[in-house]
Amino acid sequence: MEVTDVIFRLRLRAKSPSNVEMSGDDQGSGLRHKTGWRRAPDWLRLVPLRRRLVPMGSIIWERDVAEVYDQTYRAKFEPSVLDPVVDLLAGLAGGGPALEFAVGTGRVALPLNARGIAVHGLELSPHMAAQLRAKPGAVAVPVTIGDMTTTRVPGAPFTLVYLVANTIMNVTTQDAQLAVFANAAAQLAPGGCFVVEVIVPQLRRVPPGETARVFTMDPDHVGIETFDDVAGQVAWSHHWIEAAGRMVRHSAPYRYVWPSELDLMARIAGFRLRDRWAGWDRAPFTSDSESEVAVFEKES
Ligand SMILES: C[S@@+](CC[C@H](N)C(=O)[O-])C[C@H]1O[C@@H](n2cnc3c(N)ncnc32)[C@H](O)[C@@H]1O
Repeated sequence: MEVTDVIFRLRLRAKSPSNVEMSGDDQGSGLRHKTGWRRAPDWLRLVPLRRRLVPMGSIIWERDVAEVYDQTYRAKFEPSVLDPVVDLLAGLAGGGPALEFAVGTGRVALPLNARGIAVHGLELSPHMAAQLRAKPGAVAVPVTIGDMTTTRVPGAPFTLVYLVANTIMNVTTQDAQLAVFANAAAQLAPGGCFVVEVIVPQLRRVPPGETARVFTMDPDHVGIETFDDVAGQVAWSHHWIEAAGRMVRHSAPYRYVWPSELDLMARIAGFRLRDRWAGWDRAPFTSDSESEVAVFEKES
């Protein structure tokens, strides 16, 4: 069995322990992301510095991860999961056009387009975009390679911008998450909506004195989340995925974000909260909700 350790092949460049800079890999924005140093998990410190993965703006998802994404998250492709997503987004888009930030392999963009909504995708990883482009119907969904914190795409203004599957957390600083809101606002028509689907941080599930929890334990996918930097709201998600006869190992940092902080970012960027649900079925959002679907409307 081939073992692919994705973590060590991410294209990062450590400048110094207090200043980490991403290479110009954001494919279009031309910007570089600088963030403060975040403490790495203990096991990672065994790895030479130049090979460590350290949090920064966003990481590039490499080919190995892209090739197994659909298989790993096949449950999210089930009609019972996807149909309510597409229903809600299609309703919010009205006549469209819509823009998906972090479009990935097109899980949502392709069926939304099949509903008659013009969809443009923005994606940081050329490997994820390549998976999308190989699918039937992809020719109707143009994809721009770029960073959702900065990249503008052709076709604005949009009636809907959406960012699903917890991907706001892939951007690992508060400033960069705010930039995502600003970039959505800049490409929306007045009255247009920015939809964010993200988990509610599950810190209550971590036992006292512990920093880790298992969030997935399937025969072909084990996932462990470690809360390494509570002050910076950065957790690491570690995955061991078996797909198509290969074992893929993937670790990445995420900046978890509370609903109230999302609302404040939205207000700063010129949005108002229109709705917040616990899921795509529009269930009420409560203190016990583990995820949210928030709809922010751009002020006129
Ligand atoms: C969990 S996947 C979600 C893909 C797709 N939206 C879906 O629902 O299946 C996260 C995606 O976000 C992309 N991504 C991460 N940071 C990004 C950024 N700063 N700008 C654009 N895309 C980004 C990754 O490359 C990856 O394709």
